[in-house]
Amino acid sequence: MKGVVFTNFAELVEDNYGLAMWQNILDTANPPSGGIYVATAQYDDQELISLVGAASELLDMPAPVLIRRFGQFLWQYFEENYPQFITSHDNLFDFLISVDSVIHMEVNKLYPNASTPDFEYDRESPKQLLMHYRSPRKLCHLSVGLIEASANYYQTPIRIEHPVCMHEGSDHCEIRVTIADG
Ligand code: HEM
Repeated sequence: MKGVVFTNFAELVEDNYGLAMWQNILDTANPPSGGIYVATAQYDDQELISLVGAASELLDMPAPVLIRRFGQFLWQYFEENYPQFITSHDNLFDFLISVDSVIHMEVNKLYPNASTPDFEYDRESPKQLLMHYRSPRKLCHLSVGLIEASANYYQTPIRIEHPVCMHEGSDHCEIRVTIADG
């Protein structure tokens, strides 16, 4: 994964729990890189998994909850650094559909060794979008956090269901986004 994912994860921890906690997490996870991350460099996916594992234990927070919070945090970074991908859409579903065919495609052009997931979409009804998530990194909860934050950005109240999950033995995840009434 790109260093930018790691620098944001460090920032999430430091902002909310302090630098000493981040140091503690690094000491526990003992990542091969030594914990110095450069935004554009590439690091082993396993490093993120072990940092999240250490953080989850030290903060006494289940990993899915922590990763989902991280997704919400990462959204702020995307909004500040890649606004063109967001402001070019005026509604949540058009934006979400563009993530696979436009946004991650551009990310992969820019950084040929980027690690983005695959999404397929079923527009089940005008108010319901089913997103099929596939990635060897199994960061479906990161998607949930990013989707929640993007719904907030588009001022669209939603409900999220996650009826099929790779963490429960499936080969992919299904994330259903429903626009809530009222
Ligand atoms: C709701 C919207 C989005 C969702 C659900 C989403 C989902 C994800 C997920 C789950 C990952 C982790 C990698 C994996 O699972 O394999 C990821 C990586 C990434 N995404 Fe997105 N994303 C969204 C929007 C964006 C936006 C707006 C940008 C801005 C350019 C972006 C750029 C990236 C980048 C740079 C990475 C890291 C690639 C790497 O480490 O090599 N994503 N995305």
